[in-house]
Amino acid sequence: MLKFLLVFCACVYTVTAGKHDAYRSYSVHNVQVRDMSDLQLLQDLQLNLGVDIWEHGMGGVRDAVVMVSPEQARSFLEALDENGIAHSLHIADVAKSLEEHENDLASYRSSRQNRMIFNDYPRYAEVDAYMERIAATYPNLVTLVNAGPSFEGRDIKYLKISTTNFTDASKPIYFMDAMMHAREWVTTPVALYSIHRLLENRRPEDQDLLDDIDWIILPIVNPDGYEFSQTDNRLWRKTRSVNLNVSTECIGVDANRNFDIEFNTTGVFTNPCSNLFPGPYAFSEVETQYVRDILLEYLPRIQLYNDIHSHGNYVLFCYANKTLPPNAAHIHHIGAAMGAIMDSMKLPQARFYLVGNSGLVLYPTSGSADDYAQVRLRI
Ligand SMILES: *[C@@H]1O[C@H](CO)[C@@H](O)[C@H](O)[C@H]1NC(C)=O
Ligand SMILES: *[C@@H]1O[C@H](CO)[C@@H](O)[C@H](O)[C@H]1NC(C)=O
Ligand SMILES: *[C@@H]1O[C@H](CO)[C@@H](O)[C@H](O)[C@H]1NC(C)=O
Ligand SMILES: *[C@@H]1O[C@H](CO)[C@@H](O)[C@H](O)[C@H]1NC(C)=O
Repeated sequence: MLKFLLVFCACVYTVTAGKHDAYRSYSVHNVQVRDMSDLQLLQDLQLNLGVDIWEHGMGGVRDAVVMVSPEQARSFLEALDENGIAHSLHIADVAKSLEEHENDLASYRSSRQNRMIFNDYPRYAEVDAYMERIAATYPNLVTLVNAGPSFEGRDIKYLKISTTNFTDASKPIYFMDAMMHAREWVTTPVALYSIHRLLENRRPEDQDLLDDIDWIILPIVNPDGYEFSQTDNRLWRKTRSVNLNVSTECIGVDANRNFDIEFNTTGVFTNPCSNLFPGPYAFSEVETQYVRDILLEYLPRIQLYNDIHSHGNYVLFCYANKTLPPNAAHIHHIGAAMGAIMDSMKLPQARFYLVGNSGLVLYPTSGSADDYAQVRLRI
């Protein structure tokens, strides 16, 4: 099972005065992590200080990127200095940076009136309308499925794309989902572009992708969190579920820690206010239940499950506890081919894709969607 992390920083917004004030004087730092022990220190600072790690970095290869509040800044930088870890300022004031990006997006939108849906960060309703239109335009190829309502009642829909209406059991199924983490805005356009290329703009050399494979594409796993990140808090990551047994103060669960695989063991925080709170129990979130149900419904036929995240250009595979699955060499080979193709089209200033086991390349976690899929699919 592969997981993408994309190169783009999805830092774009709609303009509302004072909307980003919660991040006034928050700063973001590049941290030159040298090895696993530096990464461990960052994990500890995340736990003890509550800093927000935007990109985890790879020891000796790639910097980590960390956001700190004005109150956290001093202790954070002191801890880095004491441990001889080099760092540099990346963003001085996150609120100001968010406002600038919002203005950039507004001028981009007014200069390109007829942009395609995947050339923007479309809201939930626009994505919904697009999927409805695609299903109506290609009735012989597309089935629109409503998995059910999110916690706040938004329908979570996915497209099934097939030349044989999923009846040919010999065809493999590719399952792609996006926007499990609300702030990872760039992921939904990837899912939408895939739909576009399979249906609206299919190239002759890609015909086999349609003929020989059945596709399931779920562009927004976590619509409540995504909408909240658009309207209220750009850096929201979790779902928006309220569980008064758990907390009267903080809401939401990290959906990608909520799957029933080594649940609540590593890379999670017990505090419900944390961005990495795995939930009161595995599959406490209706949104992760829908992903599970799709995986289980199509179990023997799913050959590829692609859970798309951002940001950082990585192709990552299981398991998140640093143990390799039996088909690791095979997945690595496919991941390397994917990375090489993406590299061949990348912007000159973008970095190359790194391919590897998620626990070794980034950091160990538990309860993740890709691990759950890998184990359930017994690949
Ligand atoms: C595909 O199959 C489903 C039943 O599984 C049926 O409801 C639907 O009408 C079929 N679609 C097409 C295009 O044949
Ligand atoms: C909260 O706890 C009560 C009593 O144990 C239980 O009946 C209820 O289902 C719980 N609510 C949630 C949302 O888990
Ligand atoms: C998660 O693990 C921690 C540490 O073992 C424990 O304190 C906490 O109660 C656990 N949470 C859940 C929901 O099981
Ligand atoms: C890592 O996770 C996988 C999948 O849950 C499990 O099979 C394996 O035993 C775990 N390895 C260790 C060392 O815990």
